[in-house]
This record gives sequence, structure tokens and C-alpha cells, in this order.
Amino acid sequence: MAVGVFDSGLGGLTVLDALVRRLPDVPFVYFGDNANTPYGVRDADDIYTLTCAGVQRLFDEGCDLVILACNTASAAALRRMQEGWVPEGKRVLGVFVPLIEALTERQWGDNSPPREVKVKHVALFATPATVASRAFQRELAFRAIGVDVEAQPCGGVVDAIEQGDMILAEALVHSHVEALHRRMPRPEAAVLGCTHYPLMTDAFRAALGDRVELYSQPDLVAASLEDYLRRRPEMIGAGTEAGFLTTGDPVAVARKATQFLRRRIPFQAA
Ligand code: DGL
Repeated sequence: MAVGVFDSGLGGLTVLDALVRRLPDVPFVYFGDNANTPYGVRDADDIYTLTCAGVQRLFDEGCDLVILACNTASAAALRRMQEGWVPEGKRVLGVFVPLIEALTERQWGDNSPPREVKVKHVALFATPATVASRAFQRELAFRAIGVDVEAQPCGGVVDAIEQGDMILAEALVHSHVEALHRRMPRPEAAVLGCTHYPLMTDAFRAALGDRVELYSQPDLVAASLEDYLRRRPEMIGAGTEAGFLTTGDPVAVARKATQFLRRRIPFQAA
């Protein structure tokens, strides 16, 4: 039994970490498309093609269920994949729905019609491709009415984190929050809609102030997957081995991965 976790690169390790903590008995197979990262500046067709290729690799590894940890892939490719590509008996799930279910105070998997919710002003911080897709607003509209979303494309933050330049990443977070504040001075909630941003939680918290509720994905995705597997245990696939696959150079990727999980990770060529 194995569940696949797809990401454009290493950021998805923040999600994987929470999954492993919550579901220690499930073997997770991680796939990082490091040869093609970042996705956040690519167009939707490109993201779709790359995401299908990576997810297929995870199906081949014995996973029947794949989590797209990558927000950009979830935003730009998931719907198209679910509508015309995902084979019979396989499932691909993204990271927006658990987040929106939490934001709108729903039970996991509650598909009842949209309703008024407490939160009215939401700031979304994400990659340019995620913001351009408007997928977050679309998924939110299925579940809530009357919520104003202001989306801030956070150019440069992923690159700065990948290069290990946390001072630049922090400065960029502050300037993106400032830009958001000019359009929405008082958000009640802020969504960190990118795998890399949990690493910048303190900077977002400092720039946004204490009164804004921060929604970060890893724990929400893990709680939602636990509930999903309780309802659909048959979706844990035939694979039995956990592992880490990359389209990049396994040695270089493994070295960089320690930055995300602070432990050694043995990547293999995908
Ligand atoms: N993993 C991507 C996301 O969550 C960020 C990195 C990228 O741009 O590829 O949006």
C-alpha cells in the first residue's frame, strides 16, 4: 500500500512531513519534478503536461491515490486531469479543497451547497500561475458565498527559498504583504497557498499582524487525507515501499532537501 505525493520540486516536503506524522503506517512515495521546477512561472498547458507525467510515474510505482502537494499543479492542472485524464480506479486530489473546507468551517468532504460563512475578507498568497488560474476562487465559490478574495502573486519568494537566501525571501514576503494591504487593508484570514510558504510563516505573521488567521496547508491536508482514507481505505494502492523520486540530480536534490526537512533524504532518479 502506498500513496503518491507529487510536487514540482522540494516544497512538497513540507506537506509530506505532515502526512508522515499523521499517518505513520502509510508508505508515501514522493515525486519531485526538480528538472522542471519552478512551475509557478509556467503556463497552464505546460504545467498540465508535466503534472500528468509525474503522476503517471507514481501510478506506475503502485499508487492508486496521488496527492498534488503543489498548489500550482492543483490550480492549473488538476481539474483538467480529473475531467479527462485520470484512469479508472485511480484518484488525484489537490491541496485547495482541504484548505477551503477549513476556511469555510466544513466537515471534510462536505459537498453541500454554498452558504454564508464567518470570514469575509481573505488574502491569498501564491505563485503567479496559481493566482492566474483563479482556481482558489472557483473552489471557494462552490462552498461559500459573499467572501471577498484578494490574491497576491508572490514573485521571487520560491526562488529565494530554493537558493537558501532567507533574508531576500523575508524581504519579498514583507513587500508582497504590503502590496496586498494596499488593496485589502484588513484581511481576516490569509492563505499561504504555496508549498514553500510554511517555511516563511514567521515572516508572514510579522507582516500581517496577530489578528489575521493564517491558513497553512500541511496539517490541513494531512487531516483531510486521514479522513479520506478512513472512508476510502481501498484507495491505498498496491505499492508497499516508501521512497523519494526526482527528475533532477538525486545527489544535489537530496542535499537541498535537508533544508526542507532537516534530515537526510535518499532521493532516486525517477
Ligand atoms: N510547489 C509550488 C506550489 O506549491 C511552488 C514551487 C513552484 O513554483 O514550482 O505552488
